[in-house]
Amino acid sequence: MGVQSIQSFVTSTLFSFFCVQVLFITESHAQLGNSTVINISPTLANTAAAPTVDRSFIGYSLEHNAMPSFLNSQILNNLMNLWTSKTGGRPGIRIGGSGMDKTTYVPDFDEPVIWTTNPSSMYLVGPSYFTLIKDYFPSDTQITFGLNLVNSTGNWSNTVDFAVAADMNLPQADLFEIGNEPDLYVQGKQRPSGWVGKDYAAEWITVANKVKEALPSARFQPAVFAGSLEDGFDLSSLVKAGINTGSFNIPTYSIHFYPQSACSGNQNLNNLIDHNTLGGQLQKFNPEIAAAEAGGARFTLAESNTVSCSGFVDVSDTYASALWLVDYTLAAATRNIDRIYFHNGPTTPYTLFIPKGASGLTAGIRPMSFGVYFLAEALALPAQGSTTKFLVTPVSLPDSPPDIAVYGLYSNKVQKPNLDVIGTTARAYTTGVPSTRTIYITNKPETLTSVSTKMIIKSVSTSTKRSTSTRIVTVTKTTRVPKRTMVRATRTTTTKNRLGNGKTTTRTTKIVYWKTTTTTVPSVTRSRSTSRRTITSLSLSTLWTSQKVTITKVISRTKPLIATTYSVSTAPKVLSSTDTSATIKPQATDIGNFPLNDGVFLARAVVLNLSRYNTSDTSVLNCRSCNGPSPEGFGTLGERNSTTVSLTGFQPNHRLKLLRLTGPGLNAKSGINVSGLAFDEDTGAVTSAPQPGNISVDKTGKVVFDILASEAVLLVDENVV
Ligand SMILES: *[C@@H]1O[C@H](CO)[C@@H](O)[C@H](O)[C@H]1NC(C)=O
Ligand SMILES: *[C@@H]1O[C@H](CO)[C@@H](O)[C@H](O)[C@H]1NC(C)=O
Ligand SMILES: *[C@@H]1O[C@H](CO)[C@@H](O)[C@H](O)[C@H]1NC(C)=O
Ligand SMILES: *[C@@H]1O[C@H](CO)[C@@H](O)[C@H](O)[C@H]1NC(C)=O
Ligand SMILES: *[C@@H]1O[C@H](CO)[C@@H](O)[C@H](O)[C@H]1NC(C)=O
Ligand SMILES: *[C@@H]1O[C@H](CO)[C@@H](O)[C@H](O)[C@H]1NC(C)=O
Ligand SMILES: *[C@@H]1O[C@H](CO)[C@@H](O)[C@H](O)[C@H]1NC(C)=O
Ligand SMILES: *[C@@H]1O[C@H](CO)[C@@H](O)[C@H](O)[C@H]1NC(C)=O
Repeated sequence: MGVQSIQSFVTSTLFSFFCVQVLFITESHAQLGNSTVINISPTLANTAAAPTVDRSFIGYSLEHNAMPSFLNSQILNNLMNLWTSKTGGRPGIRIGGSGMDKTTYVPDFDEPVIWTTNPSSMYLVGPSYFTLIKDYFPSDTQITFGLNLVNSTGNWSNTVDFAVAADMNLPQADLFEIGNEPDLYVQGKQRPSGWVGKDYAAEWITVANKVKEALPSARFQPAVFAGSLEDGFDLSSLVKAGINTGSFNIPTYSIHFYPQSACSGNQNLNNLIDHNTLGGQLQKFNPEIAAAEAGGARFTLAESNTVSCSGFVDVSDTYASALWLVDYTLAAATRNIDRIYFHNGPTTPYTLFIPKGASGLTAGIRPMSFGVYFLAEALALPAQGSTTKFLVTPVSLPDSPPDIAVYGLYSNKVQKPNLDVIGTTARAYTTGVPSTRTIYITNKPETLTSVSTKMIIKSVSTSTKRSTSTRIVTVTKTTRVPKRTMVRATRTTTTKNRLGNGKTTTRTTKIVYWKTTTTTVPSVTRSRSTSRRTITSLSLSTLWTSQKVTITKVISRTKPLIATTYSVSTAPKVLSSTDTSATIKPQATDIGNFPLNDGVFLARAVVLNLSRYNTSDTSVLNCRSCNGPSPEGFGTLGERNSTTVSLTGFQPNHRLKLLRLTGPGLNAKSGINVSGLAFDEDTGAVTSAPQPGNISVDKTGKVVFDILASEAVLLVDENVV
């Protein structure tokens, strides 16, 4: 990896970091056949960028008169404990529903609660009722307690007595509701026509003030509307009418939600799981959520289920309802809805479980409870005692296909590079990826000296001398007589180093030598008359110059010389997440570590394929706690197709846990499980723990998995704490 590729590595990391708000999905059937491409942003801008999901997000709503049936069974307790063991929060209990407006407290009554029709349909509650509830639920259970607004006899004196008795005898009592679905009172002939939101507000304020007088710290959950939002039965009207946090202790306002109704005949399994239909239904709560928040409170759906008026066989008790529950609750959480309480009756079609055999039904766990468990896994704490909460965002899809829903869940903890991902315990990660290192050649300023020498020799001039003598001589040899002179010359030049990390000083020294060479060349002539030899000597002198040039180069580095960065391919190596030494600082691609920026990282993703698939396997069309299917048998849609999903957003090379909420078909009432989870149907205890699969994120940050039509997949990165 050269500098070029380092740059592109940094750029792509930054790209993914800054791309925080871009959540998108691209379906590219044309290019990838049957595969669906989902891109989730790996980080959120900050912990305020998405709503935080309450740890007690799911609760159970039960009627006063049904409490003995539910509390005479371990199922509710076991299901609540299971949620708590995963998420660290305990599901809340809301005791209310239409029965709360039929309830009279009878202080000398022996029974906990009975239903009588004489003189009219009413529930009579005695003091042992509180003991029953107090003993069943753990002390940290928050109970929302429903009070009667309809029966105003004695200026609501019985309602106030009931509230005071609950406060005294039920330590788990947390909030009071006064009146159930007052927006239906006129229709139910409990109030005269023309009785509207402001009339409700006036009555509510009267009762709440009386309760407050007796119990100064009483907390209330007002509204409790069925949800038409007409005639002033909306939250901004209530706030204006005086039901507000300025006058009362109001942590939450509640409205009820059922996507379908058995009273109006619109029960339809196919529509129930349509993601876009759900979006439209939740949209109407936006002004209500805003009004609650503007008043300093939260918005809660304290009574909810698939089909109002007790549910509908073949819709509410099927696997479809479990998928709906996952989509619905996560969609609600993305809208900052505080909590959702699912309404249950001991034998109703929409109950999440049958606590005790009755009315021809056997005790057992219904499909929706598997949806609750799947959600508990999605919100499961990364470690025991963790303070992590999850932020949830919807991943919106171009063209909004109705058959797929995707949610990203982020940890509210800012993950840090080099973070020890499991708290204080060191954890080893294996890396086998090429990494780029900066190598320090020297870390000290230094001086380097180099010397080079060269010799230049040349002839400067030549002179001749002649002399004559008459004698007999022997011929002499050439003699050279060198003579020396020396001239020194020094010049120094200084230039900046190319690297800019020091100076180069060049010192040039010239040493010049002079040399004379004399050569004597004799020539001999003989006289004819005398026979004498005349010797003539010719002396040649040459002046030579010889230059020796010495160049001394002195490189003075005022800064350390650092070699350029280059890449090394490291063999797989175990890094300790607590090791902070520079040389093995974990890289972005190391398992268990994060890019070199702090951030709020994707921790979980939920993908639901809501494409409708019915089964024709009659052995799964009923369950022991369900009513038989009616009509029996319905066509299937043929082959159950599977889609390959290619999802990005998790950290490269991380290993993810994969869980599936699966069932034989939308219409099935049994054979449903979350990665093999099974319950004891009599007690609700887990008899077979889920066996999650695992899947690796590749080095580009992509995971690929298959999802069946009508199935939900949960991916969990356990390294995001
Ligand atoms: C798409 O899925 C169907 C049924 O599962 C299969 O028959 C078909 O070959 C798949 N097409 C591609 C392009 O993979
Ligand atoms: C009911 O109680 C309220 C306040 O406690 C009081 O203002 C009102 O007069 C009472 N109404 C009757 C009919 O007693
Ligand atoms: C209304 O409450 C009174 C007690 O205040 C009780 O005697 C009466 O039976 C209740 N009526 C109904 C219809 O519940
Ligand atoms: C399954 O895929 C095949 C091939 O794409 C298609 O013809 C068939 O309608 C699909 N079945 C369902 C139930 O979607
Ligand atoms: C959901 O699954 C069906 C059946 O496999 C498939 O045809 C459809 O494309 C999937 N939807 C998306 C959006 O992936
Ligand atoms: C879980 O459900 C799948 C699909 O319906 C089924 O194949 C599998 O046998 C079930 N496992 C258990 C333990 O019930
Ligand atoms: C699936 O079965 C239900 C009955 O439980 C039926 O109402 C629905 O129309 C069927 N859906 C499809 C797509 O066949
Ligand atoms: C991952 O799944 C494979 C089988 O698919 C299993 O052999 C392996 O033990 C699993 N690893 C972990 C860490 O759960």
